[in-house]
Amino acid sequence: MGTGAYVPERVLTNTDLEKIVETADSWIVERTGIKERRIAAPEENTVTMATMAARQALKNAGLAAEELSYIVLATNTPPHFYPAGAIQVQDALGLNGKAAAFDLQAGCCGFNYALYVAERLVAPEGKYALVIGSDTNSRFTDWTDRGTCILFGDGAGAVVIGPGSQGRILASFVASSLNMNLYCETEFNWEVSPFLPKQDTTARHYIFMDGRDIFKFAVNATKEAIRRILEMTGLEREELDFLIIHQANWRILDAGARFAKVPMDKVFVNVHRYGNTSAASVPIALHEALGEGRIKKGDKVLLISFGAGATWGAALLEW
Ligand code: ACO
Repeated sequence: MGTGAYVPERVLTNTDLEKIVETADSWIVERTGIKERRIAAPEENTVTMATMAARQALKNAGLAAEELSYIVLATNTPPHFYPAGAIQVQDALGLNGKAAAFDLQAGCCGFNYALYVAERLVAPEGKYALVIGSDTNSRFTDWTDRGTCILFGDGAGAVVIGPGSQGRILASFVASSLNMNLYCETEFNWEVSPFLPKQDTTARHYIFMDGRDIFKFAVNATKEAIRRILEMTGLEREELDFLIIHQANWRILDAGARFAKVPMDKVFVNVHRYGNTSAASVPIALHEALGEGRIKKGDKVLLISFGAGATWGAALLEW
């Protein structure tokens, strides 16, 4: 019914990164396609960004916040373990008890998971849901690790779904299988607990990644997502009008599209401007693609994402 997006004002370019770690703009561009990313201001976080995107989505949907029954926030970087970020968003929207709100964590596939769950909640009841993806990756990045800090950025995207939408979700799936090629540890009370061995706790709650392994997984996940959606709908590959694939890396987008035999002019790309914004990546891309007039009424738009877990999934929308 409506989409929204928010990215922080502060731009961190590859040239800026050259001053933080030993890297080069040319290396980053060649390997990832990323030129710059956004970094949240100290007073911003996953909830404040989610709220900005949510307000815009509600406005574009022409829906008052009070009409929402559900708020699902996909995030890997909530400001608190509890209360859930989604509950803080409902408070910021002034709902106070009117909507159920919960967080959902599924790596960079979080938005696809949240959409999958929210659709199943609202469809039978004829209610409205706000589905948000928001991540503040800069707070969980090891800024001394050039292998990861060049990849990620901060941002949020949101959509409103419910009856009265001009479009519909034709098919969707989500999947998972354990893979520790990308993880971030919980920060336990190692230092003060009398029940845990004393150990070095520095640099535990940062993103750890086996980049090469993820690359292969991401390309395969894209390929499988397209195959599975075509199988579920009986559509031909050529009938897909537009693809929004998780913006992790330009080479993943290119390889995924090539393997799936989809021309790149049908694939949206904004990874050069934002890097990998995790759960926010797909809804930000959807919002921008609509803003640029790349999606027309009746188009079949495929949203694909993959991420830590491993998790992967897709949703085919008829706009
Ligand atoms: N600048 C310069 N050199 C670097 C940098 C850097 N930022 N990072 C690594 N290198 C060096 C390495 O040290 C290594 O040097 P060596 O050969 O002397 O040891 C060399 O470059 C090659 O390193 P690799 O890690 O093998 O480089 P690769 O070609 O695999 O590219 C990259 C690394 C870009 C991370 C790639 O593996 C990738 O894109 N993987 C996907 C990761 C991803 O997208 N993760 C996002 C999260 S997952 C998700 O969203 C699903």
